[in-house]
Amino acid sequence: MDIKLKPIGIVHSPFKRLEDIEPGKYAYPRGFNSIHGQLEIFEEYEAGLKDIEGFTHLVVIFVFHKAEGFKLHTKPLLDDTLRGVFSTRSPHRPNPIGVTVVNVRGRKGNILEVSGVDMIEGTPILDLKPYTPRDQKSSLRLGWLDDKMKKES
Ligand SMILES: C[S@@+](CC[C@H](N)C(=O)[O-])C[C@H]1O[C@@H](n2cnc3c(N)ncnc32)[C@H](O)[C@@H]1O
Repeated sequence: MDIKLKPIGIVHSPFKRLEDIEPGKYAYPRGFNSIHGQLEIFEEYEAGLKDIEGFTHLVVIFVFHKAEGFKLHTKPLLDDTLRGVFSTRSPHRPNPIGVTVVNVRGRKGNILEVSGVDMIEGTPILDLKPYTPRDQKSSLRLGWLDDKMKKES
């Protein structure tokens, strides 16, 4: 299947290059919560932002455009064991797609002010969706991450 996707906008981030994100600095639980940035939605899609101000959080679906290749087994930052890529948030995946929940701070036309940015400058945005209570799950099991998140919280 040949899937063609077109970015609807780009991320503006204080992280200009991958090297600007110091490994381990933004570990759980707070992570990137305090990192501010903007989502610039291209003018042709701006009308789709109608009513978005009412939501505190959005799910941003984007492309890891600077990720080269993928590994099916990868060593996560928080771990020293090789893990299956689909049990990690690694950017190096067969389809280099990322998902981040951001906090919406405001909107000026086609620009959304947000916090919780873990993407670098210029990251192409594929889609935005409202984050709703249906996205909040309880009784989570976190596999290999369980112990690490307990230690960090
Ligand atoms: C661990 S991933 C998690 C991203 C997202 N929250 C997710 O779960 O899909 C975040 C890391 O991806 C890398 N990254 C951010 N933007 C990127 C981009 N446009 N291309 C490649 N790597 C990127 C940075 O190293 C950042 O720390």
